[in-house]
Amino acid sequence: MLKCQKPLFSLDENVHYLNCAYKSPLLKNGEEMAKKALLSERNPFNLKPHSYFEISDKIRIEFSKIIHCHKNEIALFPSTSYGFANVFNNLKVTQVKAITVENEFPSGFFSIKKWSLENEIMLQTLTRNKLSAKDWNQKILDSIDEKTNVVFMSSVHWMDGTKFDIKKIGKKCKSVGAYFIVDGTQSVGAMNINVKEFNIDALICAGYKWLFGPYSMALGYFSSKFNNGTPIEESWMNRTNAEEFSNLTDYDSKYKTMAGRYNVGETANFVLSPIMLNGLKQLNNWGISNIESYCKKLADPLLKQLIPLGIKFEENNYFNPHLFSLGLPDYIDNINFKKTLDNKNIYISLRGKNIRVSINVFNNQNDINMLIEAVKSVLK
Ligand SMILES: Cc1ncc(COP(=O)(O)O)c(C=O)c1O
Repeated sequence: MLKCQKPLFSLDENVHYLNCAYKSPLLKNGEEMAKKALLSERNPFNLKPHSYFEISDKIRIEFSKIIHCHKNEIALFPSTSYGFANVFNNLKVTQVKAITVENEFPSGFFSIKKWSLENEIMLQTLTRNKLSAKDWNQKILDSIDEKTNVVFMSSVHWMDGTKFDIKKIGKKCKSVGAYFIVDGTQSVGAMNINVKEFNIDALICAGYKWLFGPYSMALGYFSSKFNNGTPIEESWMNRTNAEEFSNLTDYDSKYKTMAGRYNVGETANFVLSPIMLNGLKQLNNWGISNIESYCKKLADPLLKQLIPLGIKFEENNYFNPHLFSLGLPDYIDNINFKKTLDNKNIYISLRGKNIRVSINVFNNQNDINMLIEAVKSVLK
């Protein structure tokens, strides 16, 4: 079992940061590597042509181990919105219906909305209403049929952590020939995702949360369905002759293989890339299953202590130990409760009507105990 990894971070000692879904803290190693990278900008003569490609390739290798694909199926960009723009720009119109779920994150939602409008596809947003997570998942599965062109959703709901049956949904998409596009921002790095096993056609993740990367770096997986697509920009770096610096104007119209065409220009991002690479290496070193078990070990006592007091959590199979919502009694005002937590240096996020708690390996039992005590202090 993984031990608490707090010593690898520089988090303030007196803070209980239960908010990795907002942004991960910086790993000490990543900080050192970024400082070194910044200082090396003093002497650009050390940069060789291969330096412009090497670090991005290393990032691809590490990320491919996490989501179980080939490194060349991965592209790097500054945000998920950039990744989704590439995905929806290359979605073939085959049917009449697009599906998403209620309250998806805006970057993905607006991408599918725009694509649906432009292509006169009916966009169906599947609401939860008062359904259990199990029934909501079933509603999603039942809605996918021969008329479905694409399903876009997160693997874990970003606002309250509801777990989706990604594997079953992917299988259903495949059986009807629909694209399956997933926002993995709030799950990849904290739970096992296998893009091949789950029949995911494109998976887009921001890097600054569960991947311990910097803000302004995101990663995406593109299946072979996107191999011959058109990228949203024409970077010289994505051409097959890019590494021959003296021959760049022998204009090569061929893009790099597989997802290589979807990388953002200036992909190497010399200062931020070392943070991203370090985060991914660290994840592979810890092991995703070990991170899952660690978060579960911390979340279990919280459930044990708070459920008998009437606090509601997502039902068993749909409860996510790394990201979940605290269902407080109606008489407690969320904004006031957040103020109580802020005063105790306990950090969480309010998302819609949810009190979103998110846990990672830098948290310890004391952080959880502090949250339990804070909840108890506001109960009648
Ligand atoms: C589910 C999800 N997707 C994407 C993002 C970030 O989107 P972008 O990289 O477009 O800023 C977030 C940020 O909170 C998120 O929670």
